[in-house]
Amino acid sequence: MQNFEFHNPTKIIFGNETIGRLAELVPSDARVLILYGGNSARKNGTLDEVRSALGSRFMQEFGGIEPNPSYETLMQAVEYIRTEKLDYLLAVGGGSVIDGTKFVAAAVNFSGDAWNILLNHGRNIDSALPFGTVLTLPATGSEMNCGSVVTRRETHTKLAFMNTHVFPQFSILDPAKTYTLPTRQIANGVIDAFVHITEQYLTYPVGGMVQDRFAEGLLQTLVEIGPKALATPEDADARANLMWTATLALNGLIGAGVPHDWATHMIGHELTAAYNIDHARTLAIVLPALLHEQRNQKHDKLLQYGQRVWGINSGSEDARITATIEATRDFFERMGTPTRLSDYDLGNEAIDLVIKQLEAHGMTQLGEHGDVTPEVSRRILTTAI
Ligand code: NZQ
Ligand code: ZN
Repeated sequence: MQNFEFHNPTKIIFGNETIGRLAELVPSDARVLILYGGNSARKNGTLDEVRSALGSRFMQEFGGIEPNPSYETLMQAVEYIRTEKLDYLLAVGGGSVIDGTKFVAAAVNFSGDAWNILLNHGRNIDSALPFGTVLTLPATGSEMNCGSVVTRRETHTKLAFMNTHVFPQFSILDPAKTYTLPTRQIANGVIDAFVHITEQYLTYPVGGMVQDRFAEGLLQTLVEIGPKALATPEDADARANLMWTATLALNGLIGAGVPHDWATHMIGHELTAAYNIDHARTLAIVLPALLHEQRNQKHDKLLQYGQRVWGINSGSEDARITATIEATRDFFERMGTPTRLSDYDLGNEAIDLVIKQLEAHGMTQLGEHGDVTPEVSRRILTTAI
């Protein structure tokens, strides 16, 4: 196992009817900005619950944070906070609202052009406003990590940043808040969490026995509950387990002391930036093709994953690896999520554009070995047609 440090300061409040706990979690003298997305949090009553839990605190609201939050919109929130002298942020929504809030928290204190936060992947932040979250969509793990992804619409640039200053102070995870999610977003959540796990697990063995078993347990849980969460929206156990699995998939625990891949995500981000395909849907396209392309480098872990998660034990090693990749693709398809570029009417021209963007963003040595060059990314995307 590799050396590691593990530190996660985010407090999790998990369970039904927990939004009222905001009354004790947010400082009583805070000047609060509630940030939210489109209309879902208003329509399903979450915003009203949040407001009433905050009681007599000074509060303002900033809505309209888009899926794949835009730098342009978030900078409006930054201006608003500066003008109104607000000092505490509360994100109410999914990964986009939480990521957007992280960026805003860092940008308010940042001097100079805040886009540099993204260009430096967060290394240049030395403070951020404190914030908490109320999660309404289990998927990204943003509620318990210090990463954020922001898109600059004018240039179709989607970049990530990380910094320990943007860990949420707390996150409220009420599984009942997911009942209003459309099935497509539930499928997205299952697949995003699934691929967060594979990015930290499907690499090469380093003797991280606990990390492997945790990862396999989380993957098996998603395989079991994913279809249930789709078919029976008010299955409380399925929703609760999905929420906790998605959080654990990217809170640092399973990734401590083991190699990481993240090539699927980096290629996927370019597909979202260029063609506005939902984040998780890009992962469902890229991952099966990437596993196929990297089957030699990932040989040992693919066999282990096939055996322990999918029960694939017989046949030659090569046949087992092929069956494992196909089981993964089949799972995504069973979740109602297409796994081919052609399902979005995209082909070689799209590949040319994505490769150009990967190069422009320095994504030329991806993967756990740094061997996913633009040429390899091209082969992956070609397989994905
Ligand atoms: O905007 P509203 O009206 O709220 O609707 C949202 C949005 O349209 C809706 N929604 C959320 N909660 C709902 C609901 N609809 C009904 N009932 C509810 N309870 O769902 C739609 C999608 O929301 P979004 O927040 O965009 O989805 P998700 O949580 O999948 O977040 C995706 C973003 O997170 C980034 C992605 O790149 C993408 O920008 N990621 C962040 C990561 C991180 N911070 O660690 C890691 C991930 O790999 C990912 O890159
Ligand atoms: Zn993701």
